[in-house]
Amino acid sequence: MPLADPPLLDVRDLVARYPLSPASAMPPFGGLRQRQRWLQAVDGVSFTVARGEAVGLVGESGCGKSTLVSLIARLSDPVSGHIVFDGIDLATHAAAHAARAPWRRRMQMVFQDPHDSLDPRKTAFDAVADPLRRLLGLQGQALRDRVLDVAQRVHLGADLLQRRPHELSGGQAARVGIARALGPGPELLILDEPTAAIDVSVQAGVLALLDRLRRELGLAIVFVSHDLGVVRLLCERVLVMREGRIVDQGPAHALFDQPRHPYTAALAASIPHFPGK
Ligand SMILES: Nc1ncnc2c1ncn2[C@@H]1O[C@H](COP(=O)(O)OP(=O)(O)OP(=O)(O)O)[C@@H](O)[C@H]1O
Ligand SMILES: [Mg+2]
Repeated sequence: MPLADPPLLDVRDLVARYPLSPASAMPPFGGLRQRQRWLQAVDGVSFTVARGEAVGLVGESGCGKSTLVSLIARLSDPVSGHIVFDGIDLATHAAAHAARAPWRRRMQMVFQDPHDSLDPRKTAFDAVADPLRRLLGLQGQALRDRVLDVAQRVHLGADLLQRRPHELSGGQAARVGIARALGPGPELLILDEPTAAIDVSVQAGVLALLDRLRRELGLAIVFVSHDLGVVRLLCERVLVMREGRIVDQGPAHALFDQPRHPYTAALAASIPHFPGK
């Protein structure tokens, strides 16, 4: 048997925390010491993602999903742990320098609310063009060609490219966010609830598009969602997160159809429209 390929992403023992506000750090009886206390939002997380693999990350609100993926995308710094991307430990690179790092083009992120994450002053064209200028050094006709090519891939008409975010529908803005992330040609796409902000009726279209794109482009994805039905459709493997830890993981169908871990079972049962029942 051939040796297994090393994973594209290998996250090990990742820890991140937030300072708790002084009010909650105050001892109950007005004690003298005010030692800083911390919320361990990511509490020793390890998992891998293979090339081209679709991994879902689920768990209730506040369990640490967004914190975890923002560490991996190097938008914030962990306290400790490793984020090994294709053999390079990104945890040793400060988040402050990530925007221009050579690996940035290879790992891109799609945010929850496109109307929120896109610059309101910029046209859709510039939203897609900016990372291409910054990361690939494209300009002029080559830049325009690449923007149009990516826009076409996500079914964004050229006329929409001249609009600013507030002139786009939720579904259109979501497509701009996806086009922006796909432009540099990433191998890993991290999506944090990419359809949470859009109307249910257009969600399905965006999800089908994502599924097709990732197969066509051989993309690995980490897909954050609280919607287990969506995760089951899109992802091969699922990680279940609770209070900063991965408490269960496995193939999507097995995990939700015959959940063995009580927390996964509770999570599956708590979703009324969950197709697996
Ligand atoms: N900037 C911050 N400062 C302090 N605490 C934070 C900050 N961001 C998140 N937290 C806390 O860290 C924990 C994890 O938050 P996080 O946003 O990662 O959860 P989540 O799983 O993405 O939730 P949701 O499903 O609601 O998006 C929560 O308890 C949250 O209140
Ligand atoms: Mg979140």
